[in-house]
Amino acid sequence: MISDRWGDAWDWRASVDSVLLRGCRKAEGLFAVVWQCDYAAALSCNEETALNKEPSTSMIRRRLERLGVDFPVLIAPMVGISHVAFRELIRSYTPVGLNPLIFTEMLSTRRLPSERLDAVNEIRVAEGEGYFVPQLLGNEERFIAPSIEKLLRLGPWGFDINMGCPVEHILKHNWGVRLLGDRAYAADVVRMTKRHSPLPVSVKLRGGADADLDVTWLDEFTAALEDAGADWLTIHARPRARGHTGEANWRLCSEIASRRGIPIVANGDVQTADDALSLLGPDFGMDGVMIARAACVRPWIIWQIAARMGCTTAPQGRAGELPPEGGIAEGREYVRACLTMIDQLETYFEGDDYIRKKFSFFVATGARWFPFGHAFWALTTKAKSVSHLRELVTGWGERSPDSTYARIEL
Ligand SMILES: Cc1cc2nc3c(=O)[nH]c(=O)nc-3n(C[C@H](O)[C@H](O)[C@H](O)COP(=O)(O)O)c2cc1C
Repeated sequence: MISDRWGDAWDWRASVDSVLLRGCRKAEGLFAVVWQCDYAAALSCNEETALNKEPSTSMIRRRLERLGVDFPVLIAPMVGISHVAFRELIRSYTPVGLNPLIFTEMLSTRRLPSERLDAVNEIRVAEGEGYFVPQLLGNEERFIAPSIEKLLRLGPWGFDINMGCPVEHILKHNWGVRLLGDRAYAADVVRMTKRHSPLPVSVKLRGGADADLDVTWLDEFTAALEDAGADWLTIHARPRARGHTGEANWRLCSEIASRRGIPIVANGDVQTADDALSLLGPDFGMDGVMIARAACVRPWIIWQIAARMGCTTAPQGRAGELPPEGGIAEGREYVRACLTMIDQLETYFEGDDYIRKKFSFFVATGARWFPFGHAFWALTTKAKSVSHLRELVTGWGERSPDSTYARIEL
């Protein structure tokens, strides 16, 4: 059922007006305006209208929404980054009333059954945090079942299965991207996960098992996952051999989305709000987009996307503000975000060294979007304590906050 969760937070009638005005002012073109208005209406109208209205080409897909997903932008699993402090940072920039799904980093199902939930930093969650999705790494029911049972105690929104990690020690166990080599077995992993999960189950996979992307192969593979009961799929549109570099093939995601009955989310190279809107719009027709590295440089990207869609609410404590836009404003906000990140790391984790390392890794991932990002990262590695780190970041912000690039070559 589509709840009325949009109702309170998002005055869509007002937002349609403002989108129309903005659309006219910027001469974005009638099509974009129509699409954005339809989106606002689709998201905020009552259940009856939303379900009865057939999707049209001028309207973004609503298949994820029907599954209960609150917002069509998801934040990706990233080892070393997608911990509770990062998730809280993203939420601190999310307009009140929106609940985007944020993934945990991949979690080994071999280890989870014997781990204490309160003793492992990677599975720490915030109080009342309901919209997180643990990503499972594994392929055996005897480990997957107890892992799910344990994680359910944390109150996740759903589970994701990793079919994209190319790291060597993971391949040894036939986990991650190796599952792409055996369609029947990969489908079995979905079936076994569904057997034990009362919550939605998704799969995050690569667009190609080896060096190339192949639409026929991907069509058959994703069809098998759909038949096995996957609730949605996220396609990282780069083949295994490319790692995280180069452009992602969004067209391939779009092609698969048109062939599957379940929602398809595109991942890879989504760096700006405009990228996301283009993928969600009629040109690509994606059900959702997933953002990884760009969320480390602009953790407010969901705010930017929501604002462009007509959302009039701001994040907690930012009422009346618009999201930062443009290199200088975003560069300034980045310093503020870094300080929030340090606060969050201190709230959830112990150990000066640990906190500084986690912070530096976060900075290293976003640094390439700044002309002087490397110098900033190097500065953070020189901190002797967390309070020193805070001083260094503050000093950098006061002296010369860097200006972000909108897009870079990944
Ligand atoms: C530091 C880092 C860690 C990652 N860890 C995971 C992971 O745990 N699970 C996963 O499915 N993908 C992982 N990825 C891949 C991302 O989720 C994403 O698919 C990839 O970075 C492409 O998206 P992007 O171009 O938006 O960065 C990781 C990527 C990075 C950069």
